[in-house]
Amino acid sequence: MIEIQNIGFSYGKTRVLSDVSLKAKAGECVAILGNNGAGKSTLITCVNRIRQPKKGEVLIDGRPVRRMGRRELAQNVAYVAQKNEMSQTTVFDCVLLGRRPYMKWGASGEDIEKCLAMLRRVGMEEFQLRSLDEMSGGELQKVMLARALVQEPKVLLLDEPTSSLDPKNQYEMMALVRELAHERQITVLVVIHDLNLAIRYCDRFFFLKNGKGYCYGDSQAVTDDVIRDVYGICGHIAKIDGKKVVVIG
Ligand SMILES: Nc1ncnc2c1ncn2[C@@H]1O[C@H](COP(=O)(O)OP(=O)(O)O)[C@@H](O)[C@H]1O
Ligand SMILES: [Mg+2]
Repeated sequence: MIEIQNIGFSYGKTRVLSDVSLKAKAGECVAILGNNGAGKSTLITCVNRIRQPKKGEVLIDGRPVRRMGRRELAQNVAYVAQKNEMSQTTVFDCVLLGRRPYMKWGASGEDIEKCLAMLRRVGMEEFQLRSLDEMSGGELQKVMLARALVQEPKVLLLDEPTSSLDPKNQYEMMALVRELAHERQITVLVVIHDLNLAIRYCDRFFFLKNGKGYCYGDSQAVTDDVIRDVYGICGHIAKIDGKKVVVIG
């Protein structure tokens, strides 16, 4: 379980997050929603200490991340950034890096097995010897997800994981994230712009507006009014084939 308590963050003198709080249970998939510049990326990087909040605290199972050593932090929190660095590393070596927080002298047979199993799970097994700089954005995102998952984190942070995927892969990626979150009891915080993807695959919805929590709840929290207030657009919630959908305009 994760608790973000009254986080405040500024870049220099510019305040970006004020008093942001959010709680999520193990196995829950939480969509972090809001306009560009709202502070979503800043918020999730305050969780894994890429950024140090000026105020507030982040607790995982009651333990402040501030007090965790690097290794412990990496065993608790995994992160997939919005932009991934291309390099000549192979897919397999990249995923194996996710096991580093558990290694003593080097990779064990178990580490290798876990990486292969995860590559299979994300459908990238055949790419294991491919170099990262020879892959499409979408393929790379799946590899980065595999690397984050072999870390066996309690909390998984995903920053726009579907942004460079085609529609089929967007749905597959989110279905997989949800499945793994539930199966392995991982709390997922996922920054996502596509409200329909979010509503279909996430359990809870956290709206951020101008660096402040606007509202938080289950799918009932996603309403026409909230969409208008947060995004400044006209949105309408409808039901098609029993599924909630958001129609814009
Ligand atoms: N490294 C940085 N230095 C200064 N300002 C930043 C930096 N990163 C982001 N910002 C600013 O902070 C605000 C929030 O950014 P960000 O968290 O990336 O928003 P989001 O992910 O919701 O689009 C934006 O106004 C952005 O320009
Ligand atoms: Mg962002």
